[in-house]
Parts: sequence; structure tokens; C-alpha cells
Amino acid sequence: MKILITGNLGYIGPVLTKHLKKRHPDYSITGIDSAFFAHCLTDAVYSPDIYTDVQYFKDVRNIEESFLKGFDAIIHLAAVSNDPMGNKFEQVTDEINHKASVDLAIKASAAGVKKFVFASSCSIYGFAEGGAKTEKDALNPLTAYAKSKVNTEIGLEKVSVQSDMVITALRFATACGMSDRIRLDLVLNDFIASALATGKITVLSDGSPWRPLIDVKDMSRAMEWALLRSRDAGKFLAINIGHNDFNYQVRDIAETVSSIIPGTEISINKNAPPDKRSYRVDFSLFNQLAPEYIPITNLVQSAKEIRDGLQHMQFNDANFRESQLIRLKVLEKHMATNKMNNNLEWVY
Ligand SMILES: NC(=O)c1ccc[n+]([C@@H]2O[C@H](COP(=O)([O-])OP(=O)(O)OC[C@H]3O[C@@H](n4cnc5c(N)ncnc54)[C@H](O)[C@@H]3O)[C@@H](O)[C@H]2O)c1
Repeated sequence: MKILITGNLGYIGPVLTKHLKKRHPDYSITGIDSAFFAHCLTDAVYSPDIYTDVQYFKDVRNIEESFLKGFDAIIHLAAVSNDPMGNKFEQVTDEINHKASVDLAIKASAAGVKKFVFASSCSIYGFAEGGAKTEKDALNPLTAYAKSKVNTEIGLEKVSVQSDMVITALRFATACGMSDRIRLDLVLNDFIASALATGKITVLSDGSPWRPLIDVKDMSRAMEWALLRSRDAGKFLAINIGHNDFNYQVRDIAETVSSIIPGTEISINKNAPPDKRSYRVDFSLFNQLAPEYIPITNLVQSAKEIRDGLQHMQFNDANFRESQLIRLKVLEKHMATNKMNNNLEWVY
């Protein structure tokens, strides 16, 4: 199979390419990435990009249909990938995450690509009271990032009506876990970094908000499933990706980190206003359709792997929220040094 992975040089990409190449050595993998964070290697003792056969440093906003000819499948990761960046670059987030994604799918379909896998997000459920959200529940995107994912799903479903391509929107739980380009702007990763560097975890909320978590290795397994799935479950499918047992309250995440990094102090803000990003998600459909691909890495395992990875790189930066392990900070630095413009394009 000849696969194109967009956004392969970020946090999840290196874990995904390694997973696919190990499971399917015969797959040919091409990467396309603007390389916002390509230099932010962390625990790598060799380049994680050896699993990619061909690499293009290219913007997904400028892909021609002719470029897509010959690919069997596309896994589309490229995006402005979290709320802080989405808030700062609202219009560009819509351009890259939504418009360029739908445009890519239209061109891919015309070029004869058979499978299109889109990295969506459970954050589209927003603040969700009541029980765990299923795919049939209403969406409540609260941020530019979440809105861009909803709009892309809507656009992809429309593309699917006139296309033969099998399209899967994977609504991922919040990512966690070790990567050769680890990011510390994610709840579990942040707590571990903070525990290691300062001996403390400061929970900004009252600890009650729910977050479904998924390890990056399990995200990769889910993307493999989406590549291989038949059209039986629908030519277009939007599906929650995670595990019903892996919905956690933020205070439980903090306590787990404290249990694997003894001596960690936890401070909880008991008077905090309700956190707007609280949601539990129902992953039963994924369990039913893909029993062999449901997540297998639990919170303790992910936490230990991040701890070990950070310790291995002798991480002890108490100021890490200002560092190149935080995506927004990297973009701000590119701009401050005039390497990138407000449109998130490189200035040569
Ligand atoms: N991390 C999470 O919790 C999570 C959860 C759900 C879904 N997702 C989605 O998974 C995908 C990958 O996430 P990640 O954590 O690896 O993000 P990341 O920010 O680490 O990587 C995204 C990559 O996309 C590239 N990119 C951005 N704009 C581009 C453009 N215009 N052209 C080409 N490349 C571009 C960046 O250079 C970067 O390497 C994203 O779509 C994200 O929204 C992530």
C-alpha cells in the first residue's frame, strides 16, 4: 500500500510511521509536513523519520491533485493542533484545519485515492453534561480548533456523497504518551513534566473535569484500522476513538502521576469556576467495530513511559511551559525571529 501521511513530523506522526512500518514493512510511506516542529526532537537516539520513505517539506494548503495520483490512502494529521494555537491563529486554523482538509479530500478522491483517514477530536463535544457522549449526540465545539474539526467532518461527509473513497474521521480522545517529538502541552504529559521538574502538580480546576485519554501508540493502531477497514460500517464514518475505561477526572490523573513519582505534591483549586472542557465519551462503537484495535495502554503504563522517557533525556526544566516542548511557544519563536509570517508560512 502506498500511503501519504500529512503532518508526519509532529507529536503523533513519528509514533504512527514507526507503528505502520513495523507492522507492514511493505508499505511505502510518504510524508508531507511544513515542519513547524521538525527540530523539536526529544528522546531520539536516531532519527524517528527513517520509517518514512519519502519526505516533502510542503504546505497542505498547496497540494495539487496530480501530486496525489498513485497513493492508495491518506492519513491526514497536518493541523494547527490545539486550542492555544487555534485561539491565537483563528483564521489560519480554519484555513489549514478545515478548508485545506476538505480540499485535500476532494483532490484525493479525484486522484483515485481509496481511503482517507482524518484526525478529528473528541473536543468537538465541548462541555458535555450528562453521560458519556456517543457519535449520535449533539456537538458543542467551544474553540476555533474544535470548530475547525466539526466543519471538516461536515465537509468530508459531503465529499463522500459523490466519492468512492472510504473516509474515516477518528474522533480521538486527548493524546498522551511518549514520542520522539513529545509535547508537554497535554494534560498527562504536563503533569509528569511538572512533577519531575518541580515536585508539584498544580491543577487549575477543582479536579472534577473529565478527560478521556488515549496513548499515541493506541492512536496509531486506530489509524491502522481505519486504513484497512471495509466500507461495511459506512463509506463515511465519524467514530470516537478511545476506551470506555479510560475516561478520567483530572484529579485522578494527578493522583496517578503522584503515585508513580513519589513525593509529588498536588494542589487543587477548590474555588475554580467550572472548567468548560469537561466531557466523557462513549467508545462502544469502536469497541464493537474494531475489537482487536481498541486501546490497550492504560493511564499508569502511559505515565510510566513518559516519566522514563523524560528522565532518560535528563529533563528538569521547571520553565518548560515556555520551552520548545510547547507548540504555541515554538510558533511564537519562529515569528519573533522572522522565520514565519502570521499566516504560518515560512519566510525564506
Ligand atoms: N494531540 C492530541 O491530543 C490530539 C487529539 C486528537 C486529535 N489530534 C489531531 O491529530 C493530528 C496530529 O496531532 P499532533 O499532536 O501530532 O500535532 P502536532 O502539532 O504535533 O503535529 C502537526 C503537524 O502538522 C504540521 N502542519 C501544520 N500545518 C501544516 C500545513 N499547513 N502544511 C503542512 N504541515 C502542517 C506541523 O508542522 C506538525 O508537524 C492533528 O490533526 C490533531 O488535531 C490530536
